[in-house]
Amino acid sequence: MESSRIHTLRLSPEEVEKFQAFFMGESGLVFEGRRLKEMERAIAGRMIELGVSSFDQYYHLLGRRDGKEELNQLLLSLTVGETHFFRTPDQFAALRKYVLPELIERARAGSRRLLLLSAGCATGEEAYTLFILLSDLIPDPSSFRITIRACDINKDFLEQAREGIYGERKVKFVDPVTQERFFHRLGKNRWQVKDELRRAVEFQHFNLNEPDYSGLAKGEQFDLVLCRNVLIYFNLETVKQVINKFHQVIAQDGYLKKVAPVAQASWPAIRVGEQR
Ligand SMILES: C[S@@+](CC[C@H](N)C(=O)[O-])C[C@H]1O[C@@H](n2cnc3c(N)ncnc32)[C@H](O)[C@@H]1O
Repeated sequence: MESSRIHTLRLSPEEVEKFQAFFMGESGLVFEGRRLKEMERAIAGRMIELGVSSFDQYYHLLGRRDGKEELNQLLLSLTVGETHFFRTPDQFAALRKYVLPELIERARAGSRRLLLLSAGCATGEEAYTLFILLSDLIPDPSSFRITIRACDINKDFLEQAREGIYGERKVKFVDPVTQERFFHRLGKNRWQVKDELRRAVEFQHFNLNEPDYSGLAKGEQFDLVLCRNVLIYFNLETVKQVINKFHQVIAQDGYLKKVAPVAQASWPAIRVGEQR
């Protein structure tokens, strides 16, 4: 049908409001302007797939107690997972030069524990990049207890992340020495991260719109949180809530790095201790 039918299904202004409110409540995601069309198309696509004939019926299906799996399916087509290894290289250069050495030295002098988070990790490249940097900076990794946790709302992305198979475009900023050390070549344009790297990252399904982040921190505090290119999909109120919740689970001297053009001026890169 099906792509042509997708274009004929149109939400009324009341239905738009209902779905917008639903997404905001469930995931913090905002659909306005150009993204409104994406929302409409994704909903129409799922309705066609399921043979559901009205928006109202689909809305009720989503809201049912067993509607979580359907919400997940819908989010697959609504979340944007664009990412690659060493994305925005200057930020990773700054992490390598300033932030990580400080965290490592502090851990060396104390608990020898490092807990880092990639929040909104998509297919895992950011989290794996963090481990690559740490491996370069720590000559004696076995004397540390390092955990890199990575979470996303999209279960499909997480599955791909765990598998760790990437095309040429995703590894374009990985230098040949690092490629040799951490990747197997699977074919002409396909790479898979080696087991050492796969074992180093804990991937977890988690919605940043959860009321608190204890399920993410699991009783510990993060030394560093990267939440890059995620907050752009949230409205300012949700951005503030997310940042407040991060503050509850980041160590006093820890770091939060985010990229949120919407709120750049009011929320610069934060060294958490300085905010308290
Ligand atoms: C563009 S990717 C960013 C990937 C990586 N952080 C980077 O900067 O390269 C945005 C990710 O945020 C995830 N995301 C969106 N809303 C989320 C939510 N409420 N909770 C967790 N992850 C979410 C999406 O599924 C997507 O994988």
